[in-house]
Amino acid sequence: MVSNNQLFHLFLFLCFFQISCLHAQLCTQEQSSALLQFKQQFSFNKSPADDFCDYYGIHSYPKMESWKEGSDCCSWDGIECDNRTSQVIGLDLSCSWLNGNIHPNSTIFYYFPHLQRLNLAFNDFGMSRISSEFSQFTRLTHLNLSRSSFSGKVPIQVSFLSKLVSLDLSYNYGLRLEDPGFELLVENLTKIRELNLREVNISSVVSNSLLNLTSLTHLDLSWCELFGKFPDGIFHLPHLNELSIWGNLALTGYFPEFINSSSPLQYLVLSNTNFSGELPDSIGNLKSLKKLYAARCKFYGSIPTSLGNLTEMIDLSIRYNNFTGMLPSSLSNLGNLVWLGVGGNNFEGKIADFLPNVKSLLYLYIGSNNFGGPFPTLGANLTKLVELDLSNNQLTGPLPSQIIGLPNLMSLSLGDNLINGTIPPWVFSLPALYYFNISSNKLTGHLKDFKSTDHLSVVDLSNNNLHGRFPSSIFKLVKLAILILSSNNFSGELDMLCHAISLQILVLSNNRFNGAIPQCLGNFNIYFFVLDLRKNNFSGTIPDTFAEENSFKTINLDSNGFEGPVPKSLENCKMLQVLDLGHNKFSDKFPYWLENLTSLQVLILRSNKFHGPIPNSKLKFPFPILRVMDLSNNYFTGPLPRKYFENLNAMMNVDEASFELKYLGMTGGSGLAYYYNDCLTIVIKGSTIEMLKVLTIFTAIDLSKNNFEGQIPQIIGKLNSIRGLNLSHNSLTGHIPTSLANLTMLEWLDLSSNKLIGKIPQQLRNLISLEVLNLSQNQLIGRIPQGNQFDTFLNDSYIGNLALCGPPLSSTRSDPRTPQQEDNTCCLSGFNIAGLWMWAGMGTCYGISYVL
Ligand SMILES: *[C@@H]1O[C@H](CO)[C@@H](O)[C@H](O)[C@H]1NC(C)=O
Ligand SMILES: *[C@@H]1O[C@H](CO)[C@@H](O)[C@H](O)[C@H]1NC(C)=O
Ligand SMILES: *[C@@H]1O[C@H](CO)[C@@H](O)[C@H](O)[C@H]1NC(C)=O
Ligand SMILES: *[C@@H]1O[C@H](CO)[C@@H](O)[C@H](O)[C@H]1NC(C)=O
Ligand SMILES: *[C@@H]1O[C@H](CO)[C@@H](O)[C@H](O)[C@H]1NC(C)=O
Ligand SMILES: *[C@@H]1O[C@H](CO)[C@@H](O)[C@H](O)[C@H]1NC(C)=O
Ligand SMILES: *[C@@H]1O[C@H](CO)[C@@H](O)[C@H](O)[C@H]1NC(C)=O
Ligand SMILES: *[C@@H]1O[C@H](CO)[C@@H](O)[C@H](O)[C@H]1NC(C)=O
Ligand SMILES: *[C@@H]1O[C@H](CO)[C@@H](O)[C@H](O)[C@H]1NC(C)=O
Ligand SMILES: *[C@@H]1O[C@H](CO)[C@@H](O)[C@H](O)[C@H]1NC(C)=O
Ligand SMILES: *[C@@H]1O[C@H](CO)[C@@H](O)[C@H](O)[C@H]1NC(C)=O
Ligand SMILES: *[C@@H]1O[C@H](CO)[C@@H](O)[C@H](O)[C@H]1NC(C)=O
Repeated sequence: MVSNNQLFHLFLFLCFFQISCLHAQLCTQEQSSALLQFKQQFSFNKSPADDFCDYYGIHSYPKMESWKEGSDCCSWDGIECDNRTSQVIGLDLSCSWLNGNIHPNSTIFYYFPHLQRLNLAFNDFGMSRISSEFSQFTRLTHLNLSRSSFSGKVPIQVSFLSKLVSLDLSYNYGLRLEDPGFELLVENLTKIRELNLREVNISSVVSNSLLNLTSLTHLDLSWCELFGKFPDGIFHLPHLNELSIWGNLALTGYFPEFINSSSPLQYLVLSNTNFSGELPDSIGNLKSLKKLYAARCKFYGSIPTSLGNLTEMIDLSIRYNNFTGMLPSSLSNLGNLVWLGVGGNNFEGKIADFLPNVKSLLYLYIGSNNFGGPFPTLGANLTKLVELDLSNNQLTGPLPSQIIGLPNLMSLSLGDNLINGTIPPWVFSLPALYYFNISSNKLTGHLKDFKSTDHLSVVDLSNNNLHGRFPSSIFKLVKLAILILSSNNFSGELDMLCHAISLQILVLSNNRFNGAIPQCLGNFNIYFFVLDLRKNNFSGTIPDTFAEENSFKTINLDSNGFEGPVPKSLENCKMLQVLDLGHNKFSDKFPYWLENLTSLQVLILRSNKFHGPIPNSKLKFPFPILRVMDLSNNYFTGPLPRKYFENLNAMMNVDEASFELKYLGMTGGSGLAYYYNDCLTIVIKGSTIEMLKVLTIFTAIDLSKNNFEGQIPQIIGKLNSIRGLNLSHNSLTGHIPTSLANLTMLEWLDLSSNKLIGKIPQQLRNLISLEVLNLSQNQLIGRIPQGNQFDTFLNDSYIGNLALCGPPLSSTRSDPRTPQQEDNTCCLSGFNIAGLWMWAGMGTCYGISYVL
């Protein structure tokens, strides 16, 4: 291949004869065709990076489309030529829809030795490598490859570009600067002013050579996987305006002293690092500081009064540290403040003592501290406030009955305080209010038929002592998406529900709502995905109106007075994860058609009037991801559902390591985040437990208190990921299957009050997770297995059997015989298993256990 020099000479030679290149402003033939060849390498499609262009207000379009043969390339979009020499000196193809790779042999590297500025940011280079040939641009002062889908190792040759003043490799997911890449880079780029390596994986300690880069004005090393101690000196680089090192979780350091008062720092981002210690008094010398983000670090101590001297401050966030004491009243001097975040610390005192009353303020996050006293008086200057979060403090007393202003307040979070009294009418009259949360306080009284603006979208009043008829006019709010009223004493009916065309989550649990569910339930709003009516006085039948298109993920009707059949149209709820109909008066055959629901994880029919046999499934994989099946306390008859034991895939061979530990429920939302955790009442290990959060690895089957008969099929041993199995209080016969020993995750097993015969299989000693075992009230005989978990069970696991023996049965009985003798007796009866249970109505061992 021809070298640059040769080309360049060739070019000069040609120039000598061609007038065109003497003519200023016309680019050379070579550069022109080189550019056109470069253009050939790409296709032009909008990529996700282009959305960011829009976000930053940069017009994004295929600039190269204006590149046409026969025209002067200096006039093309994105090209900058030197006025005198006509050499291309700048190439700006940012936000130009480029899709493709830049080959190392690309013409771009060989015809532009004078290039000074190259910007390829916000394109899509398909996760290709950055070519080492970039080092050909020896005069480059500005290189910008931000957010253009480069990946792999940054070639060491980038550090040859020693004239660079600005280098931006940020936001290329998967880009690495491997040792000693970072070191070489900072050693050689001695002129650099702007260095942005955000999200480049550097994975090393911070090079001390950075201290030599005295021209730096902007340094962004956030999310670079840096570790070790961050050198203090970097804060003191004489021209540094912006320093951002957030997201380096293992980076340690302290907030440095700023002894002289001339630091030019305007923008300092330390959040999400391991920085610790106290904020020094000398922070007051950072007179230029406009934005300080130091959230989610390990800072502690009290806030120095001098912070109030930083009157340029616009954003101040020290959230989620371990600061203590009172916030200095000097904060109210910060007359330009827009964003104040002090939440998630241990601050105390009164909010009014430091609350700035300035017109600029938009966001106030004060939640999760120990602030006391009443709801603060909000100054008349807070006219622009958009968000106010005072949640999770110790605020007492009632809300003020009047409030002035707050015309722009969208979000008001007051949850988890000690606020009492009633909800004053001004709350729902705030003209811009979108989110209101006052859950877990001590509110009383009832809500009048409030008038609210149409913005209101999220309302959480749960866990208070509110009572009375809940004004159902709330359902007429066109934007209402989330309504949570659980654990109050509200009454009323859902007659207006079907007006709520934006409703997504409705949680009314633990109240006294009554009446029937309106007929429209399943078809008035396709976004509706959580209906939680647990523990109310609802009655009537469930409308059979679930439309083909619906989003229901949770339907929880537990503990009401619902009756009638399970609506067949529920089979349209393809997204349904949790269906809890427990503790009602439903009367139906087993709704076997639910086994078609491929998302269903929890099915609870407990304590109703379900009846009849469970038909054998015709599907290959019925209930493919069901993890909790509770049919207990009904009138089911016939054999156990063998086909389910054989095919409930989510209870078999679950590789727990591959499971993220998470709770059943959902988080999401745009703008304001929301969450809903499914809450279930489940009998675990013999006790009824209200699970406020259900881990997605929880698996159990409860078929107790029915009239199932026949044997427990061996095939049950396939459910080897199940944690709880309760078949008690049925009419099961035959032996305890040895395959139960396969259920090694089992934590509780209840087979009590059946008609099981024979011995307890020795193999059950394999059940090393078993914490609760109940085999009482059967017709079991013989020696109780010993060892492992069996050494932990007490008598009540076994009482009421025909002829069981061995510890623990002997251990607590007041029989004078020695254990040795008693063992012999047991073993004798054990030998004779065949007919023993028929015979042994009053046998020795039976007697023994009966005495206990
Ligand atoms: C080059 O010319 C353009 C307009 O013709 C002018 O705006 C620019 O300042 C000139 N640049 C130099 C370095 O002379
Ligand atoms: C560069 O190399 C690629 C593949 O290695 C080849 O397809 C392409 O034609 C080459 N381009 C030039 C300009 O030589
Ligand atoms: C620094 O750049 C020069 C060329 O400008 C190069 O020769 C040298 O190897 C580079 N040093 C490092 C450490 O990258
Ligand atoms: C790189 O280019 C992008 C897109 O034009 C721009 O947002 C960013 O500020 C540039 N980086 C530098 C360091 O100028
Ligand atoms: C960063 O690089 C290091 C070393 O190459 C590697 O161990 C680590 O997993 C990488 N981090 C990420 C987030 O890719
Ligand atoms: C800083 O630069 C000086 C001279 O240019 C050099 O001697 C020294 O080693 C450099 N320091 C670091 C930490 O690279
Ligand atoms: C803060 O300002 C006060 C008075 O305005 C002054 O006395 C004090 O020295 C200043 N503190 C710092 C650290 O700048
Ligand atoms: C926060 O500070 C308190 C006392 O100042 C201390 O007891 C506690 O352990 C600290 N918590 C953390 C997470 O560092
Ligand atoms: C409102 O702000 C102005 C200037 O921003 C200030 O002069 C005035 O004292 C403030 N009003 C109150 C009541 O604090
Ligand atoms: C509210 O609580 C305060 C104490 O914090 C108490 O003095 C007051 O009587 C309570 N008011 C109501 C209405 O319960
Ligand atoms: C299950 O769904 C399939 C198709 O989605 C349908 O053909 C079949 O009848 C359904 N089975 C039951 C039991 O509803
Ligand atoms: C129980 O486990 C054994 C050994 O892993 C296996 O051979 C047997 O088929 C399993 N039984 C059942 C019913 O799955």
